[in-house]
Order: sequence, then structure tokens, then C-alpha cells
Amino acid sequence: MRYDFPKDFLWGVATAAAQVEGAAFEDGKGATIWDAFCRLPGSIRDGNTMDVTCDQYHLYEQDIRRMKEMGIKSYRFSFSWARILPEGTGKVNEEGIAYYHRLIRCLKENGIVPNATMYHWDLPYALQLKGGWGNREIVKWFTEYAKVLLDSFGDEVDIWVTFNEPIATWVGYGMGLFAPGLKDEKYGRQALHNLLVCHGETVRLFRKIMPERAKIGIVVDVWRHYAERKDNAEDLAMELAGNEIAGYGWFLHPLFIGGYSGELTAYLKEKDQYPQIQEDDFDIIKEPVDFYGLNFYNGIIDNADKEKELEKKRAAGGNYQFKPEQHPEAVYDVLHMLKEKYHITVPIYITENGYIQIDDGGQPMEDFLEDEERIDYIRTVLQWVHKAMQDGIDVRGYYVWSFLDNFEWNAGFTMRYGLHYTDYQTLERVPKKSASWYSGVIASGGFDAPEPESAHSAILGS
Ligand code: NOJ
Repeated sequence: MRYDFPKDFLWGVATAAAQVEGAAFEDGKGATIWDAFCRLPGSIRDGNTMDVTCDQYHLYEQDIRRMKEMGIKSYRFSFSWARILPEGTGKVNEEGIAYYHRLIRCLKENGIVPNATMYHWDLPYALQLKGGWGNREIVKWFTEYAKVLLDSFGDEVDIWVTFNEPIATWVGYGMGLFAPGLKDEKYGRQALHNLLVCHGETVRLFRKIMPERAKIGIVVDVWRHYAERKDNAEDLAMELAGNEIAGYGWFLHPLFIGGYSGELTAYLKEKDQYPQIQEDDFDIIKEPVDFYGLNFYNGIIDNADKEKELEKKRAAGGNYQFKPEQHPEAVYDVLHMLKEKYHITVPIYITENGYIQIDDGGQPMEDFLEDEERIDYIRTVLQWVHKAMQDGIDVRGYYVWSFLDNFEWNAGFTMRYGLHYTDYQTLERVPKKSASWYSGVIASGGFDAPEPESAHSAILGS
């Protein structure tokens, strides 16, 4: 069957500042919570830091040239707050501003649409010293930063994302697995509430100062959980926890329906973790956006009996994404849920989707270049996205995570998501098979593929 996408479909690739830029202490950039976290022994699987990563700060022209050769239509990147405001507030670092001007100009000269995220997890360390996301003052700090971005780049960038995957702040404040490495659930819940208020206030600011052609949205990842045994209380509890208590519902409900869901409210009150909320907060958070960004990686089947086994796999780096835990078809269900449960009617971009190759070191580059599994995975996701579009769901674009292998947070360099292999010694980028496959998809506006085998019954109920 032929899968054709609309002519103006935005085919893209995505990265984030901390993961690809490097130049962590160059040209006036301040330290971030990740620069500090990487230096805590035991926090990063391979003990690496983000000091250099892919060095895109110096090699951006080369990367953009490759994107252009591939026919990429849009590049999703993020600004580093500490490169713009080294102390988080106050003095602007002109060299940081100049870098992003160069990057954006180069994209535009090559006909590539910039899609810019304001915050992708790299809080200035100076603000962490004042309490970081848990301090309500962050609403002022963040809107000051957002204003600098909009004043500096508002003429050049039309697609803006306030936040990428808010949940990461929970992983950092509530679970201790990401920067800043705190394990305080109550503080973490407050941090996430404050972050959502920052989002809403930024959308309000945007409406005041930006022209109508510019669009703003937020990116929330959805890893939808499904109880394997619908009559098993433990499986159902896992499903509820994964979706509502510490998953997408925590964000989508206040953003698109209003307030925290009944299930989450009851849970937080019982645990004495309900955040401090000011009177208008829920109205601010619900400020209408122009689009919604979906980061989709997988659906998750919960089975309390098999949980231990799965935990082991995840600890070994599987991160739910290997057979038989692959459920690319869940994207279809998720897209329907966005419309039916959360009433999301604004356009949707798939702002990330991708596939991991584990690299525990010592394997030659050649082992990673013939990435047929990545192609299969992406193709299957796109088939289900296509099907959802046929049903009338308004998906406008799709971004592969990632353009090139990069620093995968607490997994360091052990997870390769790239369409390009990155040699971290020489900084050479080598295209994988998936890069030429994706480029072919873009050139022809789609692909031919047999219809997918029937969907996993636990997900689609077929
Ligand atoms: C989520 C994040 O936005 C990105 O930073 C991360 O590297 C990918 N997904 C893969 O885990």
C-alpha cells in the first residue's frame, strides 16, 4: 500500500541544546544543572559529561548542510537558557545570542524551518542554588528569559515550544535520576506545578508581543500504559499510575481540560503532596496554545507479574523499546485519545519519535550503520500516524529523534538514537541507512509498505 502525506507536511529532525551543542563553558555560557549533575559520581551511566557532546556549537554549518542534502524541512532545536542568561536572570550574554542568530540564519538560508524550544531540561545552575523549579519566583525568572528570546528571535522563528517533556523535571526533583538529582516527591510536585504556570504565563506574554503568524505550543510525551489483565487490580493500578499519577494525564488535564484530574488530586492529597496553588493558576495554565507537540516512543503493557523482568531490561538500557515490548501502533490510539479524551483540536506535530541502539562501548561503528530495525520502527509509527490522519486527526509534521547520536542524559553516550552515527572522538558524523531511507520518504512524500500486521490486542482491542 502507498502511504502519502500532504505536500506541506513538515518532515523534520530534532535535537536539544545540552545534548548536542557542547561548548559548555565557552563564550560566556553559564553552568547548568546538567553540567553539575554529570560531575556527581555514579549519575551518568558511562561517566561522561556534556562538555563537548557533538560540538554542534562549532559544527552547526556542517550539520545544516547535511540536513539540506537530506531534504529535511524543519529542524527542532532548543535554546540553552544559561548560554543566553548565564546567571538565569539579569545580564544577557551577547555571544550566546549571536550563536543562535547564526544557527537560525543558516537554517533559513538553507530553506529549513526553525522549530525552537525554550526549555529542554537545562536549568541554569545559578537558579538551582535558589531552589530551581520548586521556587515560585521561577515564574518571573522564566518569563524574563522568554522575553529575551522573543525580543531577540521573534522576527526569525515562527514555531515556538515553551517546554519539552515537563516530566523530566519530576525525574530530576522527585526521583533523583536526572539533574538536579533530588528525590523529594513533595518538592517535585511543586516544581512541576510552577513549570506549568511558567508555560501559561509565557503563552500570555507571547500573545501580547508576537505577530499572529508565529505559533506557540508545548511538548508533552505520551507513554500510554495499558493493563494487560483488565481484571487484575495490580495491573490496573500500574496503568493508573503510569497514565494519571506520574504520566501524561498530570499535564494534559490542566493544559487542555483544566485543573488536576480527580484521580491525581485524590492521590496528591492522600500523600500530602498537593502543591501550593495560587488563585488563577489553573486559568493561566490552560491558556490556549496554537499546536500540541507529541513525543511518542512506545506504548507500555503493564503486568505486575512480569514487572521485575522488565525492570532488569530497562536497567540494562532497554528503556521499554525492544521486542517484544515494542508497540508502535499505540501512536494511533494515543492520537485518538488526544482528540477524544483531552479535546485537543489544535494541529498536532509529532515532535519526537525514534529508536535506540545500545552502545556499551567497544563496538565498531559498522555495527550501527545498517539500522534496519530503526527503519522498520519509524515506518510502522508513520503508518499508524497516517491511519489516524485518515480518520481526521490533524497531524502537520513529524520529527525524528534524532538527527545524530548524542548525549542521552543519564545514559550518556550509551544510547544511539541518530540517523547519523557520531564518533565522539573525531566528531565525525556518518549517515546510517535510516538517513537515506528518511531522505527518500521526504523526497517522495511518503512510502510503499505492506499494511502492518494486526495491532497488538492489548492496545487496540482487536
Ligand atoms: C525525550 C527527550 O525529549 C530527548 O531529550 C531524549 O533524548 C529522547 N526523548 C530520547 O530519550
